[in-house]
Amino acid sequence: MPPRTTSDIRQAYLDFFQSKGHAVISGASLVPENDPTVLFTTAGMHPLVPYLMGEKHPQGNRLVDVQLCVRTQDIDEVGDASHLTCFEMLGNWSLGDYFKKEAIEMSFEFLTKILGIPVSRLAVSCFEGDKDAPKDEESAAHWQRMGIAPERIAFLPKKNNWWGPAGKTGPCGPDTEMFYWVGAGEPSGNPKTHDSEWMEIWNDVFMQYNKNEDGTFTPFKQQNVDTGMGLDRVAVVLQGVESVYDTDAMKPIFEKVRSVSDDLSGKQTIRDIRIVVDHLKAATFMIADGVRPSNVDRGYVLRRIIRRAIRAARKLGAIQGPGFCSGVANTVIDQYGNFYDKLKSQQSAIIETLNREEEIFLKTLQDGTKHFQKMMDQLSGKEISGLDAFHLYDTYGFPIELTREMAQEQGISIDEEGFKNAFELHQQKSRAGAEKRFAGGLADQSAETTKLHTATHLLNAALRKVLGDHVWQKGSNITAERLRFDFSHPDKMTKEQIQKVEDLVNEAIKADAPVSYQLMTVDEAKADKAIGVFESKYGEKVKVYSMGAFSKEICGGPHVARTGMLGSFKIQKEESSSAGVRRIKAIVKDGPKEIEMAGEA
Ligand code: ALA
Repeated sequence: MPPRTTSDIRQAYLDFFQSKGHAVISGASLVPENDPTVLFTTAGMHPLVPYLMGEKHPQGNRLVDVQLCVRTQDIDEVGDASHLTCFEMLGNWSLGDYFKKEAIEMSFEFLTKILGIPVSRLAVSCFEGDKDAPKDEESAAHWQRMGIAPERIAFLPKKNNWWGPAGKTGPCGPDTEMFYWVGAGEPSGNPKTHDSEWMEIWNDVFMQYNKNEDGTFTPFKQQNVDTGMGLDRVAVVLQGVESVYDTDAMKPIFEKVRSVSDDLSGKQTIRDIRIVVDHLKAATFMIADGVRPSNVDRGYVLRRIIRRAIRAARKLGAIQGPGFCSGVANTVIDQYGNFYDKLKSQQSAIIETLNREEEIFLKTLQDGTKHFQKMMDQLSGKEISGLDAFHLYDTYGFPIELTREMAQEQGISIDEEGFKNAFELHQQKSRAGAEKRFAGGLADQSAETTKLHTATHLLNAALRKVLGDHVWQKGSNITAERLRFDFSHPDKMTKEQIQKVEDLVNEAIKADAPVSYQLMTVDEAKADKAIGVFESKYGEKVKVYSMGAFSKEICGGPHVARTGMLGSFKIQKEESSSAGVRRIKAIVKDGPKEIEMAGEA
């Protein structure tokens, strides 16, 4: 019997690839570690970039996992049958092991034998070729050999059939995607001829190129396979339901919201309910991974999606008292807490955070409404100026949609063009900031970032020696110029403490201690007093890096082979990051240009 429930499909995927020699690994946090270039984990491959770049993975060269992902670029499509900002990706990887032939054979076997999907309802797409890489005839030939008819194979350009790099540079390549027929009647054509009737369910990426700074592609030294299957979409297929909100996992959350909504019929209502479900599910997972609403970075994304959910819920008449968002979150926790233990362990933080943010936003709406009324009282014509509308949005956090609706009710319009201009100016400013953030490059494993990353281990160890064992890493962000390290500590550090930490790190550098790693299970690492936060579900092995006797830490990042390669270390700033968390910015200098990488002990 093919699996049917979401949890059975998850398990079937892990079991199948385990039977094909893949090690099951734990999915990573939604908050990428040591990666300044992305706000959230958006694909299963993200946490694996160092290994796709050639570093040896402690579990071997065949891996499988379930990764919870957040993708905000699809936010405007949320509400249709298949797009989500928060979803689970099933993925299997070959790190320089098998390539196209085996990847396609395994995908086909899983789809048709394990999931029992009839070949007649499947279609695929392959890369059509361009100046950078040839047409992927090889993948198409493998699919045909498996029994996919030639008319079900679409050849498409880079826009569709090329994946990565995740940052500006790094591993990428042509992909082959698998589709399921969701159109009416018998299947017809392929994803090129009948785009909307074929739903993508899985993507096999053949990472055989490296994208360079100058935009060119060179064949990559290690040929990897990176795949991603949308669990929610596969559940739609196997359960024969209409949308990703109707599966066994999601339906109860949808029903929870519907049950407290006014009885409005129509498409817009369903869309609004779906927005509430998707956004509050994403918020629940983000909070469980330590994100809190704020006005910058991840915290801002979290704040925006909670507020978007509240606005949709207000339209539905679903907010009848305090605790609406947390009520929905509790249903999310009921549905997903068995697989994602952290939802249960973080339940009270999730509930408190949502209650507070809901209260703040409802108050914002109240205040904004007052200012809106004042504005209306002073209005002479029949139009609100673009700047006034933007002021309400920017200063009071009052959403433009609400301004528009409320104005309409009084027969007033908004200078939309003026608003757009003011808004775009504001966006350009924040985009400039975002581009700066991106410039680090996800796959940037330059000598400088490797040195800085190694230095964070020494810093972490030195902080614990000077301040005490309550110090834990709370975040890290490295660019080619500096490191930024957040850690738990209640007070501002004194000048003497800062100096002492800096001295300790410099002594460790001078000692020129060897840096190397040993493979051990998470339990062994903890027994061995290695520091580092790592949740393990599957008793998997991790790399424990030692730097002489100074530092021992669980880590997956790149490191130099001897501490002496760091040159010298300087703390530039010590400041508050958030309540109970301090932040240090520091640099290294005078080290060699060429470095040697740390290996196994
Ligand atoms: N990384 C690929 C994707 O996200 C598998 O589609």
